[in-house]
Amino acid sequence: MLRVGVLVSGGGTNLQAILDAEKSGMIRNAKVVYVLSNNASAYALTRAASAGIANECISPSSFETREDFHRALLAAIEREQLDLIVLAGYLVKLPDEMIQRYRGRIMNIHPSLIPSFCGKGAYGLKVHEQALRRGVKVTGATVHLVDEGLDEGPILLQKAVEVKPDDTPETLQRRVMEEAEWVLLPRAIEDFARAAAEREDKA
Ligand code: GRF
Repeated sequence: MLRVGVLVSGGGTNLQAILDAEKSGMIRNAKVVYVLSNNASAYALTRAASAGIANECISPSSFETREDFHRALLAAIEREQLDLIVLAGYLVKLPDEMIQRYRGRIMNIHPSLIPSFCGKGAYGLKVHEQALRRGVKVTGATVHLVDEGLDEGPILLQKAVEVKPDDTPETLQRRVMEEAEWVLLPRAIEDFARAAAEREDKA
């Protein structure tokens, strides 16, 4: 059973989609065992606690230097002995050392069809504002592996979502979450876990 850690900063609806997928049996080869946030008031931590999952807040503002924060973050991740790290709305840039150590085992959900509307400053509602400003008729979500770049790692899954003429950033964000993010992330985790289990069977 793959040990999964989920890093969050906000409401945790993507985390909830993963937990619901475990419950429904859609995810059967992986289990969320740890949730970490940089934001003590992230409702995602409440969702983790309600599900009986170990969770904590490690905030950059609690440390003298960025290096101290990175050390604490890495120590927490190592302690949990995770096989897969999932960024579900986590808004803090990971230290390169962590990306090197977990290369190929960190995935992120982004609320657009990368390479559109991604990179610096493209997060949360801003992504949908950019899509509406550009006038695209189709947007969606992307799950990709995380490397040292910003939203540049290998793409794992994508799902398209129609943009409606009367969409606001909020209505578009909601549709992209419901129709794409909450579908893709659990599937990407199960695909990853099943492939790992098959590799183990062959070994
Ligand atoms: C979502 O919009 C996701 O696309 C982005 O951050 C937001 C996280 O939402 N990465 P939630 O905390 O999972 O509800």
